Amino acid sequence: MNRETLSATAHAMVAPGKGILAMDESHPTCKKRFDALGIEFTEENRRDYRDMLVTAAGLGDHVGGAILFDETLRQKLLDGTPFPQHLNSIGIVPGIKVDKGAKDLAGHPGEKVTEGLDGLRERLTEYAELGARFAKWRAVITIGDGLPSEACLEANAHALARYAALCQEADLVPIVEPEVLMNGEHDIARSYEVTVRALEVTFDQLARQGVWLEGIVLKPSMVISGDRCAEQADVETVAARTVECLKKTVPVAVPGIAFLSGGQSDEEASAHLNAINQHPDLPWAVTFSYGRALQQQAMKSWGGAEANRGTGQDAIAKRARLNGAAARGAYDSGMEQAA
Ligand code: 13P
Repeated sequence: MNRETLSATAHAMVAPGKGILAMDESHPTCKKRFDALGIEFTEENRRDYRDMLVTAAGLGDHVGGAILFDETLRQKLLDGTPFPQHLNSIGIVPGIKVDKGAKDLAGHPGEKVTEGLDGLRERLTEYAELGARFAKWRAVITIGDGLPSEACLEANAHALARYAALCQEADLVPIVEPEVLMNGEHDIARSYEVTVRALEVTFDQLARQGVWLEGIVLKPSMVISGDRCAEQADVETVAARTVECLKKTVPVAVPGIAFLSGGQSDEEASAHLNAINQHPDLPWAVTFSYGRALQQQAMKSWGGAEANRGTGQDAIAKRARLNGAAARGAYDSGMEQAA
């Protein structure tokens, strides 16, 4: 493990005013999103779409890292430049999703465990050769009647920690992502309770596996009301409970926290991140690692048509800029109307 390399990469990913673009949708997820917009699911369209995203003007001013899917790491832009090389040239660190997805956890109906540890050491070596400098692994925790179980929290945290140790061995920064889903009727108090426990168990396992905390980026979910909860907590409450939860569980050695958007609207995701960053004296860089909340408008505007490339790029550039502002606590909803 080269600590200097890991630390430099982690800091570049969450540099001031920058966040991470999650564009690592697996084939099934990408297909679902393309299908919903009537975009044909072909390798060429996936390449053209992602080319459109990463060549948007000014992206590197607000994005410090981009998470790619296996296929994209190996693809070339329309101009023939490999994706990782292009990203490096605009100051964006290329990364790679390495988990193999969340599968049903045996004996625990309604719960998932993320797979992908077998053969991971060899895959990481190849990804590093292809230009990846960080990796991502997403664990999924469901809130429900009597859920999550401790067994689910432990199994997922153990896998996250084993993955993180393997990444650091290969000099790749692990993004550690224990996502507590916002789907459900639960209130924000329950979201707080489960997120605290998920992070406690995760950091316990990271310590047991000897993961060097200065060389990770944490990707948590915000503490937020369930999407079907009758009472939706306001922006200030989400920010306050999220900061309280992180201060209780995340060691100050961790250089950066980059939230997932998890189904929040574009504007909510920006407003929440901004309100979190208005809290004083946060000991970590706190920013975004959004997928949907950065991309959904861009994908819709592009719609699979070359003629719409420019409007798609305007959309991704705008969300990157506004979330970059939110990462500094300088976002204002008035900015949504300005071009
Ligand atoms: P969302 O922001 O759409 O939740 O995606 C982030 C991500 O990378 C999930 O692993």
